[in-house]
Formats: sequence, structure tokens, C-alpha cells
Amino acid sequence: MTTTHATLAPTIKFPTTQIVIDGVDKRFSTSGQEVVALRGIDLSIRTGEFICLLGPSGCGKSTLLNAIAGFSPPSAGRITVDGVPVREPGPDRGMVFQEYALFPWMTVAKNIAFGLEIKGADRADIERRTALLMEKLSLSDFRDRYPKDLSGGMRQRVAIARILALDSPILLMDEPFGALDALTRRTLQDELLRIWQEDRKTVIFVTHSIEESIYLADRIVVMTYRPGTIKTIVPVTLPRPRDTSLGDFNELKRELSRMVMEEQQRFTDDEIRHAAVD
Ligand SMILES: Nc1ncnc2c1ncn2[C@@H]1O[C@H](COP(=O)(O)OP(=O)(O)OP(=O)(O)O)[C@@H](O)[C@H]1O
Ligand SMILES: [Mg+2]
Repeated sequence: MTTTHATLAPTIKFPTTQIVIDGVDKRFSTSGQEVVALRGIDLSIRTGEFICLLGPSGCGKSTLLNAIAGFSPPSAGRITVDGVPVREPGPDRGMVFQEYALFPWMTVAKNIAFGLEIKGADRADIERRTALLMEKLSLSDFRDRYPKDLSGGMRQRVAIARILALDSPILLMDEPFGALDALTRRTLQDELLRIWQEDRKTVIFVTHSIEESIYLADRIVVMTYRPGTIKTIVPVTLPRPRDTSLGDFNELKRELSRMVMEEQQRFTDDEIRHAAVD
């Protein structure tokens, strides 16, 4: 791989290791059949890094994110955050899902405040923080609306605000913008980058989109299709805001497309094989 786009080593920018994934395997058994979703995943993520997990459907991106979140432990190997083994979900890791996990019976303001209320924060603090986040994500005019009366983009803003309310240092995001139109998606990508830079979060962001991964990430972790392994890790050091029309951006896009297409082809072959057997 050429490194014309690599001008600053990520190790210098982010000196402290925060998340260590060490020899992680994950196997699922369903109706007597074993699926090896992850095999031998080794990855160290530094505090403040923006990591994208990229790969075709079924390569284990969500499985890896869920293991880091503590929702579903690895079958082998271990994951630590700041040296502490992950055994369950914790307030240091906030998760944003693709499918806008909002409470439909609560208003925007109530949805954002929910986590703080559970934590037992005092009323004034909840009010202040909720108002700040609504302002930050341009939601102030929608505070009394219910999720059903919001567009997909606005709902995802609420989902992000809700996680930010908890102030977790690590944000885990599973294709959060996958269902949005291109323009809304770009706007939310820019807002996420702004928040990431202002609040110095560590972000692990799952995506199918090569362009999205180059636009956002410090490093792109390209995964292989079943068993999910790390195919390669690509550092992206193009200056932000990144211009998707530039030559360097497109050169990287071509390289990544080639790698992802190899795995996509394996996914397609697998699907055809299964369809033939059924
Ligand atoms: N709870 C489960 N039980 C059985 N198999 C599972 C389970 N969760 C995931 N798998 C299998 O593990 C593999 C990886 O799934 P995973 O959902 O992590 O992929 P993904 O990369 O997130 O895919 P997508 O891009 O479609 O979301 C797939 O083959 C999937 O069928
Ligand atoms: Mg997934």
C-alpha cells in the first residue's frame, strides 16, 4: 500500500493505549451449526482515536463492537479498557445503534435526559446538560416532539445526544448513519467529527461505506468475511475537513474498494452456495 496520505503517525497523535483486544475469537452455535464470527482479533486503540470497522455484511463488525460494549463476551481472548477486563456494559462505553433506539413514548428532551435520571443526577444538572446537548445537535426547537414526529436524521441526532448525555469517554457506533440520505449523512458526519474533536472521545464506528470510513477515521480496520479477522489496518492522515473530490482521497478509496470487494465476493459466493443447498 502506498503511504502518500500518511503524513503523521497515529501513535504520535494519540499516545495512550485505551482499548486492547487480544486474541479475540467469537463462535456462535445455532441449530447444531457453528459460525466462527471472529478469529484472532488483535487491536490496540488509543485514547481519542477515531477508528472505523469496515467490511461486508456478516464479517463480524457488530459482533466485535458488541464484545467491546460488553453485551456479548468473546469465546476466547480478552478485551480491556484502561487495563480493566470488559465483563459487562459500563458507563465508560456508550453505544449508538443503527435503528434509533429511542423511547417512543418520551419527548426528545425526556429521551436525552433519561440516562441522567437513571444515574440520579440532580434536576438542575439534568436540565442544564439536556439543554446544552439539544443546542449542540440543533434539537432545541424539537424538545417537546415525540420520535414518531421526527425525520430519520433528527431521530439519530437524539440518539447521539442521549449517549453524549452520559459523557462516556468511548463511543461505539454501529452503522449509525446507514439509513440516512446522503446529505443528512454528511451533515451528521461533520457534527460527529466536531463533537469528537471538542470532547476528545474515542470513537469506534462500524460502516459498510468506504467513503464514510475515509471521511471519518484516523485508522480503518478492514475485516475479512467469515471468519472475521483483520485483513489490514489503513491509517488515514489526510487533513480534516477531508475533501472527497481530492486525488489522495480517491486513491485511498480505490485501494480500499479493491480490498473490500475481495471480501464482498467471498460473501456473495457463500450466499450463492447456501441458496443452492437450501
Ligand atoms: N447471535 C447470533 N447467533 C448466531 N450467529 C450470529 C449471531 N450474531 C451474529 N452471528 C453471525 O456472526 C457473523 C457475524 O455477524 P455480524 O452481525 O457481527 O456481522 P456484521 O459485519 O455486523 O454484518 P452487517 O454488516 O450485516 O451488520 C454472521 O455470520 C452472523 O450470522
Ligand atoms: Mg452489523
